[in-house]
Amino acid sequence: MTDMTLRRYLTASEQPANLIFLLEDIASACRVIATLVREGAFAGNLGSAGAVNVQGETQKTLDILANDAFERICSNSPRLAALVSEEVEEVTWLKEPEAGDYLLYFDPLDGSSNLDVNLSVGSIFAVMQVEKDGDRNVLHAGRRQLCAGYALYGPSTMLVLTDGTEVSGFTCQHGTGDFLLTHPKMQVPEETSEFAINTSRYRHWDASIRRYVDECVAGEEGPRGRSFNMRWTASMVAEIHRILTRGGVFLYPADRENRKAGGKLRLMYEANPMAMIIEQAGGAATTGLAPILDIAPTGPHQRVPVILGSKAEVARLIAYHETEKA
Ligand code: AHG
Ligand code: MN
Ligand code: MN
Repeated sequence: MTDMTLRRYLTASEQPANLIFLLEDIASACRVIATLVREGAFAGNLGSAGAVNVQGETQKTLDILANDAFERICSNSPRLAALVSEEVEEVTWLKEPEAGDYLLYFDPLDGSSNLDVNLSVGSIFAVMQVEKDGDRNVLHAGRRQLCAGYALYGPSTMLVLTDGTEVSGFTCQHGTGDFLLTHPKMQVPEETSEFAINTSRYRHWDASIRRYVDECVAGEEGPRGRSFNMRWTASMVAEIHRILTRGGVFLYPADRENRKAGGKLRLMYEANPMAMIIEQAGGAATTGLAPILDIAPTGPHQRVPVILGSKAEVARLIAYHETEKA
């Protein structure tokens, strides 16, 4: 059994103390959310909150409680200047921004349609920095993320974190609540025969996506010459965790139906953090036409097409997009 707690790990990483405080606050928020999720029906936490968020989606009670946990716990962090949450339309400023202050982007509860059916959900987060005193701009490209991570509320609660040097997975120990390093130096396996996409949208897809999926489905007789497996959990955190563990590719592409909105997933608190984690673990992340981390954002709730996972599969999908464009 490992005795490397998140605190010891962060201290050894020589990150600035204020960033360590913030990451520990995020971990505390995730612990609170794990408890809320676990208590489910006992605590009356399930079901709709009867409100609609900025995305036009009905908020679940737990979406709001999870957002409150992040706000309440992280707001105490010294040098945290602003919060950008999926559940809050405007940026929440906590202080007058000074150069080096932190900006926290988060999806408090991802995959919340899974809540009522007792399947895995998660939280996603990323940290960036204020460039100069008084600068209230939060729309930076994902390349500038200092850290990114997610918590997965599955059979065990896990926290997966990258500081830009490696990806580390911590498992929450029942009883003590400690996050212990159980998955050091996570790497996306290069070889894969698994893909994840919501195939109910097939009729809306572009030719490049149809081609990729058709070829996988064709199996041994098709151009790939081997059999592929498919998974779709409707919780991005669970999909990304599976890909980090045993490889694969995840797609939520732009299609005929969602293209006007930009896609489905949100850039600042879903696509960017996951892209950083996947790239740090040796995988790749693209819209199909450009690396996700290089997108210059136009709004805090902007949506983007997302293709990420094992490098060779992502490269193939980029090539299919280029062929379609030509
Ligand atoms: P959220 O619960 O934060 O709104 O995000 C849900 C996202 C993502 O986690 C998942 O991959 C996708 O939406 C599921 O989409 P479908 O409903 O099309 O399956
Ligand atoms: Mn989400
Ligand atoms: Mn969410």
